[in-house]
Amino acid sequence: MSDDARNAGNGGTAPMGRRGALKTLAAVGGAVGCGAIAVPTVRFLVAPALGAVGGGNWIKTVAVDSLPEGEPKRVALVADHRDAWTLEKQVELGAAWILRKGAAVVAWSTVCPHLGCAVDKSGSGPGFNCPCHDSSFDADGQRLNGPSPRALDSLATRVEDGFVMVQFQRFRQGTPEKDPI
Ligand code: FES
Repeated sequence: MSDDARNAGNGGTAPMGRRGALKTLAAVGGAVGCGAIAVPTVRFLVAPALGAVGGGNWIKTVAVDSLPEGEPKRVALVADHRDAWTLEKQVELGAAWILRKGAAVVAWSTVCPHLGCAVDKSGSGPGFNCPCHDSSFDADGQRLNGPSPRALDSLATRVEDGFVMVQFQRFRQGTPEKDPI
């Protein structure tokens, strides 16, 4: 007996029920399929915004006792690096100048706010110097001379179990404001 014949005998409900079930199955399958595509796509799109390079990560650095009072120390910022596709274990994401002043610890990014060269300790006294275009900064990271549009970019610190934790961040270059990216 055909579906139509059966349909004629039962008021037309059985084939509609099968069609409805098939439609529901198709809809559920479509939704699952879309989700399977959408989730990694969204993750791919938002990964940079979520700090795929460790932006905003707290990174454990050196023992606070190893820092000589008043003498800045360059410290590599090493952590896992995740992007949309891969996870690299313990890579150097950047570096910081860390300075202990009594019980307080401060840190600055080693990236020059001008065009991103690496800032060194000044060879002629306290403070810092960027060799690329000769920007100089005092011992508190404040700009003294040169084309850098702002002071060195400070990084948040805290001491945890005797070690200095530094919040790794990158900032836009060439702007007077400190603008995290
Ligand atoms: S990059 Fe540092 S002064 Fe230009």
